[in-house]
Amino acid sequence: MNNCRIATGVVAALLIAGPAFTQEHDESYHADYIFGAPLEPTEAWIITRGGRLYDNWYATQDMDAPEGTHPAWPSSNSRTGATTWRCKSCHGWDYRGADGKYGSGSYETGIAGVMGYSGDPAALESVLREHGYSEAMIPSEQSQYIAAFLSRGLDDMNAVIDFDTGEVSGDTGHGAAIFQTNCAACHGFDGRALDWGDADEPGYVGTEANANPWEVLHKIRNGHPGVEMISLRAFDLQDAVDVLAYTRTLPEK
Ligand code: HEC
Ligand code: HEC
Repeated sequence: MNNCRIATGVVAALLIAGPAFTQEHDESYHADYIFGAPLEPTEAWIITRGGRLYDNWYATQDMDAPEGTHPAWPSSNSRTGATTWRCKSCHGWDYRGADGKYGSGSYETGIAGVMGYSGDPAALESVLREHGYSEAMIPSEQSQYIAAFLSRGLDDMNAVIDFDTGEVSGDTGHGAAIFQTNCAACHGFDGRALDWGDADEPGYVGTEANANPWEVLHKIRNGHPGVEMISLRAFDLQDAVDVLAYTRTLPEK
């Protein structure tokens, strides 16, 4: 009898609180995953954080976009505004600047790449302050993540993506297996569940992977700034390359 009453009490408590597995994470959980840092960050996480800062340091830190155009942005290029403050805009998705894909096209600036940069974290921080990034924009701690990314996280994209054609040498079957069991949770099986384009020109995984495989490889390896997206950094580069090869077979429209 007693046991039975206790059991009834437990059931009643569960009904009131709801079993743990149906509880939604609260908003602070998501914000912490996207913008915060683990208590004991691994090398893989540190590098990806640096990679997202390199992509877009203000979205990565949940900050407003900077105003004006970066002082080092050349007048030969007609772009203006916040995008000119992103590291990738001057140094490239392939990290090779003028020697890479940004040697021509709408992001042509003539600025050198960062591939092979050998500065230590203190040296990089001075470089960033000279670049016009204040402590409020990129605090020292964040600068250290970028230093880790530059010294240990830059992939040699020329080895896996054809520089002229964008063709990717990957195993699409293995890429499909990874995509269907990971990426599809958010992007759908055909990569069209999220759309960052507009009605005329949709932006799907397949669209982006064909238009700019260098950017997509950077995002597969490091995640996408300011949103809940995974990164494949803890796996071999070839796994990410296989996914990239497969995403180029997905619908572009
Ligand atoms: C508006 C363009 C621009 C942006 C944005 C930019 N840089 Fe640079 N960066 C330069 C220029 C110009 C140089 C000098 C290289 C050259 O001679 O072309 C440079 C040089 C560097 C170097 C090499 C320094 C050395 O001493 O060898 C590093 C590292 C670097 N930038 C990192 C970054 C990082 C990290 C970011 C983003 C937080 C960033 N840059 C954003 C223009 C830019
Ligand atoms: C937990 C959800 C989630 C998972 C898993 C995920 N993504 Fe994403 N991804 C996002 C979100 C959210 C965005 C932002 C979309 C937007 O801006 O509308 C994004 C953005 C992207 C973008 C870039 C969009 C742009 O603006 O250029 C690409 C490419 C991409 N994801 C590919 C992948 C690939 C490939 C995988 C698997 C390795 C993956 N994603 C896994 C949530 C996810």
